[in-house]
Amino acid sequence: MNPNIHLLLRSITPENKEFPMIALNEWITPDHLFFQRNHFSYPVFDIREWHLSIDGSVETPVRLLYSALKHFPHITLPVTVECAGNKRGLFTPNARGEQWELGAISHAAWTGIPLKHVLEFVGLRSDATEILFEGIDTGERSDLPGLFPYARSLPLEKAVHPHTILALYKNGKPLTYRHGFPLRLIVPGWYGMASVKWLRRITVLNQPFQGPFQSLDYVMILEPGKYQGAIPITNVKVNSSFVFPSNQSFLHRGVHIIYGVAWSSISPVAVVEVSEDEGQQWSHADWCDPSIPYSWRRWKYRWKATQPGTYTLKVKATDRSGQSQPEKAQWNVKGYGNNSIHTSTVYID
Ligand code: MTE
Repeated sequence: MNPNIHLLLRSITPENKEFPMIALNEWITPDHLFFQRNHFSYPVFDIREWHLSIDGSVETPVRLLYSALKHFPHITLPVTVECAGNKRGLFTPNARGEQWELGAISHAAWTGIPLKHVLEFVGLRSDATEILFEGIDTGERSDLPGLFPYARSLPLEKAVHPHTILALYKNGKPLTYRHGFPLRLIVPGWYGMASVKWLRRITVLNQPFQGPFQSLDYVMILEPGKYQGAIPITNVKVNSSFVFPSNQSFLHRGVHIIYGVAWSSISPVAVVEVSEDEGQQWSHADWCDPSIPYSWRRWKYRWKATQPGTYTLKVKATDRSGQSQPEKAQWNVKGYGNNSIHTSTVYID
């Protein structure tokens, strides 16, 4: 562990910290460098009293103790978790919220129970349409009176997907407190807001959930206050970033190995292209990692910088369905889903 590499602070309370992109030499993000995204202070609870309640439109409501969870089948999946607000700080004009740069994203191997097994165990009633997940953390919001838990729902179809898991372990070890111990949801392919931490309750609903983290946050609003018809944020968009050289770097003349990372959701990333001349010509980058569903892929590109001057490098990923990063992602009030082509300005002396 390099003691000089640490998370980058965005806010202290609640604690919000970015993954330092420079640590991308590892495919799996070690726990101490995994980005942290919280809406409230960390919850205080007695683990000896923890249990998971499952209720609502089910045949048999249950309370599951931690020790009971080991009796369900487990799977392990490597999954990249990206916050919907990743790269918000790169939007112009500024969008309100944490000014994340490139690092509200990390990658881990998650082990847990496919949620569908637990739902089969309690038995869904025929009117079930959504599954609601409630975290233990609770707090105030600036836009509404009262106290709210962090709670979000998933449509039934996504909840019973075999890869939607109740995770107990990350990188082979029990979840750490900051990342949702004892139990969190992992929703591969969706932005990170869906992966509710510190789960205490799952409720099967027969109508749409309207909580503030579902209907006021994590929806695309294009004008302040215009929530009518706002599209919910769901699948991660195809995206890529430079790690080296970072923006505003000074480099010597010569050959440089440029590198970075690319990711997407339902359709895997197929191609990464780099432009040395502000987007006029594009050349393919080489992959450093294989294509694994839900996982980011590091790439590299050999750049011969022979002439001194200022260069605007660009990187663009395209997924297998043909979706590419746009020159400029759709600006929105809350600053979600910024997958604009990434630019790095470099000075060669
Ligand atoms: N779950 C709870 N209970 N409380 C939260 O604030 N934040 C969500 C999600 N789950 C959140 C939560 C968001 S917006 C993201 S991006 C991920 O957790 C971040 O997970 P991490 O902190 O483990 O990186």
